[in-house]
Amino acid sequence: MSDLNNQWVPSNNASRSGKIGSQATIDKIKQLGVTELFIDTAKGLDCPEAMPADEQKQVQAQQLESLQLQSDAGTARKRVPVSKERDRAEKRYQQARNVIDDVLQDVKNHGAIDVAAVDQTSEELLESLNTNENALACLSHIRSKDTYLLQHSVNVGILLGIFGRSLRLDPKVLKELVIGGILHDIGKVLVPDSILHKPGKLEPDEWDEMKRHVTYGEKILDVTAGLSEVSRSICRLHHERLDGTGYPRSLNQDKIDRFGRMAAICDVYDAVTADRVYHTGMSPDLALRKLVEWSIFHLDKELVYDFIRCLSVYPVGTLVELSNNRAGVVIEANRRSPKHPLVRVFYNTVNRHQVEPVVVDLAKANSRYDIVGTLDARQLNLDITPFL
Ligand SMILES: [Fe+2]
Repeated sequence: MSDLNNQWVPSNNASRSGKIGSQATIDKIKQLGVTELFIDTAKGLDCPEAMPADEQKQVQAQQLESLQLQSDAGTARKRVPVSKERDRAEKRYQQARNVIDDVLQDVKNHGAIDVAAVDQTSEELLESLNTNENALACLSHIRSKDTYLLQHSVNVGILLGIFGRSLRLDPKVLKELVIGGILHDIGKVLVPDSILHKPGKLEPDEWDEMKRHVTYGEKILDVTAGLSEVSRSICRLHHERLDGTGYPRSLNQDKIDRFGRMAAICDVYDAVTADRVYHTGMSPDLALRKLVEWSIFHLDKELVYDFIRCLSVYPVGTLVELSNNRAGVVIEANRRSPKHPLVRVFYNTVNRHQVEPVVVDLAKANSRYDIVGTLDARQLNLDITPFL
């Protein structure tokens, strides 16, 4: 067994691959809500009726390719360059982190949540997204392991804002989505630090407590005036899964509304791309491929495809290799022409050394280079952060 397809389940972080020796282990894995996994056929017997991993990868590649060809009505290149929005976005990102930090402290001290501050910061994040959403998208990929909860809360708010804008949702609903994203994990503040920050595998009772963060969050939001039903449902539903394997209520899909489904996608995407104490984050493009896999049972397939169209197949933060033996990080996705993002080139792939960074717009007619593939920055031991 080489992949449980459940990277978002923190309790399983210690061992996601290895030899399964007994039916009891299989039963235990099933109990964890895992409905599919890959077998390393070099090491174990294959399952005759299952699609081989290579074939599955090919199907996924075809699905992603077809998404690449579908154009989006969004503008190919924003009028305000990402570099111009950067400073303002940075201030607003920091401000949003401070707001959620204060909210968490207030809850810890049994105080009331400052809803007006959350409302205001959500409004400001949306303003930045309206100007050029790539500025905040870049910032969301500059990670710090120590402030995961703060960053994750803001990032899910930003992702829901980007996703909701691409679906052309009503501005009022958009703000409610961002507020819901910022507050979705608020219940974690009541989970003991020894569990929340445990570097190793969680024991079953610790995992039960961890899962309670959703109910804690719901209770906190229940006694908070001034929040919309949309914002509340994001907190309530973000860990539910369409096949009923989610928590805390194992709801069936007809009980999980569209906003809850969107929240699940944004939450998983941010969680798996983050560096944590116990795992290294996936590259954004790999995370999108994983979302396609998880949409077989857990996530809403249509919305996953909408999400990929919205972030583009080469999302911000992806390290791409170009046809001129250079590599760089995507700093602005291109929805209308997904294969032609804005890239900050900084690496020579032949000599394996960094070069003077230069921004290349692959959409420009005079750009002579194409993307030939994506690279894993971690495997190359490259830190892309300075180039975002
Ligand atoms: Fe959560």
